[in-house]
Amino acid sequence: MKVTVVGAGAVGATCADNIARKELCNELVLLDIKEGIAEGKAQDMMQTATLLGFDTKITGSTNDYSKTANSDVVVITSGLPRKPGMTREELIGVNAGIVKGVCENILKHSPNAIIIVISNPMDTMTYLALQSTGLPKHRIIGMGGTLDSSRFKYQLSQHLGCSPADLNAVVVGGHGDTTMIPLIRLATWNSTPVTNFLSAEQQEKIVKDTMVGGATLTALIGTSAWYAPGAAGAALVESILRDEKKLFTCCVALDGEYGQKDICLGVPVIIGKNGWEKILDFQLNETEQAAFNKSADAVRSMNDVLKTL
Ligand code: 2OP
Repeated sequence: MKVTVVGAGAVGATCADNIARKELCNELVLLDIKEGIAEGKAQDMMQTATLLGFDTKITGSTNDYSKTANSDVVVITSGLPRKPGMTREELIGVNAGIVKGVCENILKHSPNAIIIVISNPMDTMTYLALQSTGLPKHRIIGMGGTLDSSRFKYQLSQHLGCSPADLNAVVVGGHGDTTMIPLIRLATWNSTPVTNFLSAEQQEKIVKDTMVGGATLTALIGTSAWYAPGAAGAALVESILRDEKKLFTCCVALDGEYGQKDICLGVPVIIGKNGWEKILDFQLNETEQAAFNKSADAVRSMNDVLKTL
């Protein structure tokens, strides 16, 4: 199995590091446009192989896509990250050009790859990847909800004083500070609704803190977060390559599901060897569906910006 991670910045390198540590593939290519960075980080990671006990061969490449040939999965992290005070949406102009170019180059060498999009604004970049490649929809997966759901479980665990591993909770909708929808009504702690244990104020705070989870970290660190985004990308790669059929929230093309069409948005999906294999209907209530529709409107107006670039 072969995986390529495009973009050797913090998110891309962390994603590659997780993939290697878990030995999800035998060949892993890290590619970046900046001279030497991918080669350097690939070597650095390879020098952890005997210490961590993995056998994945990691190769770095400065923009030579021939090295990525025949990848089974490609993770796209390229583009500018957020700076403090910036929204993910402000990155659209620059990142759209980058992501489109990356997709074209990838497809020349790996026509059968499944593509995972991490670049921001993630919902619009996923839509762009789908439109510009013309690939079957099941092979284009936006990572956002996987990360946001993990952040949601973290926030819940802090209030419940429990292990995040005992929680089931998903965030649907867009991967934006105002477009994501943490579904607290459906969240459970070992099969019991978390709402049984949390006051209305606590619930409100958890939802709010989840929604601004990325912005909070950007303000603290000075740039976009990378550990959880990188790990979320690797978790999707794992479910694909091991055909685990795990349920994640991912940004995928909707064709009437959740009442939306001609848009990529976060919904619960099964991830396996064919990419996203099935959308699950979580039967949103009226309020949740209204929030989902509002999120779709916001993402759709971002997608419209693509036409003006
Ligand atoms: C985040 O939310 C990178 O969009 C990513 O941290």
